[in-house]
Amino acid sequence: MLLQQLSSLSSPLSDQQVTSLQQATANMSAVELSWVSGYLAGLAQSSDQSAIVAAPVPSATLTVLYGSQTGNAKGVAKQVAEAATAQGINVSLVSMADYKTKALKDETHLLVIVSTHGEGEAPDDAEQLHQFLASKRAPKLAGLEFAVLGLGDTSYEFYCQTAIDFELRLSALGAKSILDRRDCDVDYDSDVLAWQGQIIELLNETLSQPVAATAVSAGVATTTSQYSKQNPLSATLLASNKITGRGANKDVRHIEISLEDSGLSYQPGDALGVWFDNDPILVNELIELVGLQAEQLVNVNDQEISLAQALIQHYELTQLHPGFVSTYGEATAQSNLVELGTDKAVMREYIANRQVIDVIRQNRGSLSSEQLLAALRKLTPRLYSIASSVSEVDEEVHLTVAVVEYDAFDKAHQGAASSYLSHRLAEGDTLRVFVEHNDNFRLPSADKSVIMIGPGTGIAPFRSFLQQRDNDDASGQNWLFFGNQHFTDDFLYQTELQDFQKRGVLNRIDLAFSRDQAHKVYVQDRIKEQGKDLYQWLEDGASLYICGDGNQMAKDVHQALVEAIELHGNKTNEQAQQYLTQLKTDKRYQKDVY
Ligand SMILES: Cc1cc2nc3c(=O)[nH]c(=O)nc-3n(C[C@H](O)[C@H](O)[C@H](O)COP(=O)(O)OP(=O)(O)OC[C@H]3O[C@@H](n4cnc5c(N)ncnc54)[C@H](O)[C@@H]3O)c2cc1C
Ligand SMILES: Cc1cc2nc3c(=O)[nH]c(=O)nc-3n(C[C@H](O)[C@H](O)[C@H](O)COP(=O)(O)O)c2cc1C
Repeated sequence: MLLQQLSSLSSPLSDQQVTSLQQATANMSAVELSWVSGYLAGLAQSSDQSAIVAAPVPSATLTVLYGSQTGNAKGVAKQVAEAATAQGINVSLVSMADYKTKALKDETHLLVIVSTHGEGEAPDDAEQLHQFLASKRAPKLAGLEFAVLGLGDTSYEFYCQTAIDFELRLSALGAKSILDRRDCDVDYDSDVLAWQGQIIELLNETLSQPVAATAVSAGVATTTSQYSKQNPLSATLLASNKITGRGANKDVRHIEISLEDSGLSYQPGDALGVWFDNDPILVNELIELVGLQAEQLVNVNDQEISLAQALIQHYELTQLHPGFVSTYGEATAQSNLVELGTDKAVMREYIANRQVIDVIRQNRGSLSSEQLLAALRKLTPRLYSIASSVSEVDEEVHLTVAVVEYDAFDKAHQGAASSYLSHRLAEGDTLRVFVEHNDNFRLPSADKSVIMIGPGTGIAPFRSFLQQRDNDDASGQNWLFFGNQHFTDDFLYQTELQDFQKRGVLNRIDLAFSRDQAHKVYVQDRIKEQGKDLYQWLEDGASLYICGDGNQMAKDVHQALVEAIELHGNKTNEQAQQYLTQLKTDKRYQKDVY
């Protein structure tokens, strides 16, 4: 029954009580109403048990703030928020991108859950808050108690740097850390659970309410799909076609996957998470080298399975991390490996061009299956930018995957997920997938223009953008910068792009094939050449997107953009940088780089 329809005739309330209730709730939001309904239920429960119970005083709220680029910290924050709610704590779960900084001074209890990207940089959605806390405008936070959880990867030089920054900045503003910061590596599940248990126990005394009287705002309970990283969809591989030519240095695949009848959907800008199996040939070689048996039983997630199955399905074998080198060295009594761990820079260099199998091949030793599994990290899915639009392909999802293949130490090496998708899966086979939503890479409204910079597999989300703009009959203009090695072998989606061009969907395309002439030409060179028009497009309201290699390309492109804006906008270098920062703030400069 709606409150507006409530009357004394249809309820046990008097006229006066009905009026009071209607007045008290008239201006409440959905979240506030839901909280009040829980509060009243709690009140009813307690008054059932005793005649006179003091009304519980609503306690302070726990704010769970997350900063996440590829969804992990967001998922962890939701999990922590749900666990706190279950303990009777009022939780407000907020993305740092949506957080109003002026609310900070009123916070009393704050959890910060944040990943690190780039080279020790904040994820896009955390950038503004990260900067704000270091600025002179940041308020004193003497009344705030907080704890920080960092997600990162020990293979990177600046491990969990953004979490470190948040902890330092909040402390410098006078806030009190109530639990040591915990930094979590890519296989973070057990560390997160341990931290979650500790922090909730600490907060329980001060913040806990009867369970029914609590509510979580910002949609913790809402899930868009039953499928997730932990509960992936078993989807069917429809096609895996090589789209680079015979002479190409790289094998790039156009992959099509069926989502039929799953209800799983996505938007342009989202990524697809793919769980994969390791190569059984690699697994057998590894087991043999360390003197173990493929069929011997091991315990993984409380289940007895064969060692071979454990290594195929549950552990990372291709991505090497410092922990493996040290732990394997200790277990096999090889001091040279243990010593590598004493110098971070040397260790980083060592792991940069090796996989797990290389360490074992070059440093033979025997160890037990328990020791081996303890040294390895749990397998984590890979993400791929989605290359299709639902409005074009309906219940399918398309990807553009570069197969990682290279020779090192006289042996062929492959990337685990890309070789699984391209070599080990056959059409009709199933694979486990989930959608990773990415609100940091979204098309503007249909009347606005877009400039898309996507060399190599960076083209993927722009195929999705173009399909969407085509289906929407978008009036905004579309401009693409694409590059690769050779026109004849590496022009990904050439005919589709030319068709978009012919039909007026793609209004401008600038191409850079780096190895088709004596001197190398890249997309950043084309950006400089077209700088005048590009600046004019930006002035006219266009949005700017970069996708692809984050190590070199995205930095070079950013630099080219600065130069173009400086030159054609008649600005100093600082003003040009500021111009791009403002575009970022306005969500008109977005990156999907890896
Ligand atoms: C948000 C996001 C979107 C992405 N979108 C795409 C996309 O659209 N298309 C795409 O192809 N990829 C994309 N990626 C990258 C993708 O997720 C995987 O990282 C990539 O496919 C490699 O995974 P893999 O399992 O095959 O290789 P891994 O098993 O992860 O790699 C094996 C190891 O080999 C090393 N290595 C790789 N090349 C060499 C070399 N030449 N020499 C020495 N060592 C080397 C690596 O450092 C790594 O340690 C995206 C990543 C992110 C985060
Ligand atoms: C392009 C890229 C750069 C990264 N850089 C760092 C880094 O500098 N330091 C670090 O600790 N982790 C780094 N990571 C690892 C991420 O922090 C880690 O995968 C984390 O789980 C991602 O969480 P998110 O999905 O919430 O963003 C990087 C990951 C990617 C894809």
